[in-house]
Amino acid sequence: MSIEDNTRSKARPALQRPRPAGRLLIVANRLPYRVLDDGAKVELQRNVGGLVSAVHPLAERVGAAWIGWDDGQTALWSRARNALRAAPYRVIPLALPERLHANYYSGFCNATLWPLFHSFLGRAEFHQSWYEAYLEANRRFADRVRREARPGDTIWIHDYQLMLVPGLLRQAGVRSRILFFLHIPFPAADLFRHLPWRSELLAGLAGTDVIAVQAPEHSRHMRDALDQFGPGAGGNGRPKIPELRTIPISIDTVRLSRRSRSPEVLRRAEAIRQSGAGRKIVLSVERLDYAKGILERLRAVERLLERRRDLRERIWFLQLSVPTRTGVGTYERYRRDVDEMVGRINGRFSRPEWVPIRYLFRSLPEDELLAYYRVADAALITSLKDGMNLVAKEYVAAHGHGGGVLVLSEFAGAAREMRGALLVNPHHATETADTVARALEMPLEEQRRRMSGMFRHLLRHTVHDWVERCLA
Ligand code: G6P
Repeated sequence: MSIEDNTRSKARPALQRPRPAGRLLIVANRLPYRVLDDGAKVELQRNVGGLVSAVHPLAERVGAAWIGWDDGQTALWSRARNALRAAPYRVIPLALPERLHANYYSGFCNATLWPLFHSFLGRAEFHQSWYEAYLEANRRFADRVRREARPGDTIWIHDYQLMLVPGLLRQAGVRSRILFFLHIPFPAADLFRHLPWRSELLAGLAGTDVIAVQAPEHSRHMRDALDQFGPGAGGNGRPKIPELRTIPISIDTVRLSRRSRSPEVLRRAEAIRQSGAGRKIVLSVERLDYAKGILERLRAVERLLERRRDLRERIWFLQLSVPTRTGVGTYERYRRDVDEMVGRINGRFSRPEWVPIRYLFRSLPEDELLAYYRVADAALITSLKDGMNLVAKEYVAAHGHGGGVLVLSEFAGAAREMRGALLVNPHHATETADTVARALEMPLEEQRRRMSGMFRHLLRHTVHDWVERCLA
């Protein structure tokens, strides 16, 4: 059966739910577009990434409004009025002064909350001035939303950058339905309690009607935190606690699967395959973030090359790292460590005609990425903590009912759903190395059985289902 046939017979029809009475206001730190100025004209370019791919089609369908930070392109946005008028829905860029943004985004969001929520307590820094910037930035977001909101609208707020916004909106008298989706993990109360502003954050979240998270443990952790440190904790009169739901995010399975078999992608895949000269390809793709366990993976790669001399020169590790948060010190240091380790391993094992690790540090257009997925005999995902990890799902969509093996960290949210994956603990370099060898030696029939099971799951649990369930 072809993939199309299978897709048609197995994909669940979209749930028919009434559309919200009012408009949908989407609030996220990132906008779905950035402005491009080529000198002659100013245009909007769609941002890539999980959130935008997930929510943009809905925004287009229902004519939403999307409020987000203007990415420091304040002057450019003001010249993009015509392009904005032509956009498929209302896009509202919010300017933040540079210093405020640095303390809010590079500081509190990505050097306090991100490490803490990913269980890297040692990397989390706590500074009052960063918290104050976070509060101020959230106030500006809330103020913009308040000016936009009409009775009957639904306000859908995304992620850890904006956890105070629901409470601020309630304080300002906004009575619309407020939904919140946390894309990253929520830590156990034992970790969360270290945050000096834990009660403020929870009071902010308590303004929400429904909080949705990626996994049941995040929901349990948030319930514990609300009980222990939330508004009214320890007192008698308990305020209303938001409803908590677990709704794992997903991908547009059918679209990605079709696109990955388009002539353009297949042509590009063939070119990559030929440049590999018949070698097996192990692919890793991620933002260059310590939470993705890149150094741990490189240790496993080195271990594999040490333990399995017979595999040397027969495999290629392809690492596609997307630049991210380059203004944050830990990210810059991490990048240097990754560069150094790749250099050391390549220096140690390379032969004149073979380099074990090919390393690209840039973002890639979708077709190019899909071509890499297609040619990869295995995908190696080693997150030390990950809310979901959509790369795992995209790799499966690109293979459909064909071969290929997903080697996946047990600490990625995707591990709960991707039952056909080979799971690893990335802290265990030897186990990870042996699992990669097992993936490369797996009989094709077993590869297909595992892949096909995961693909069928993804046909039943798409991003469209995620959207419907979030807004239900
Ligand atoms: C994660 C977060 C998103 C964030 C994305 C990219 O997926 O959950 O909220 O947008 O990383 O990070 P950046 O800091 O570039 O927005």
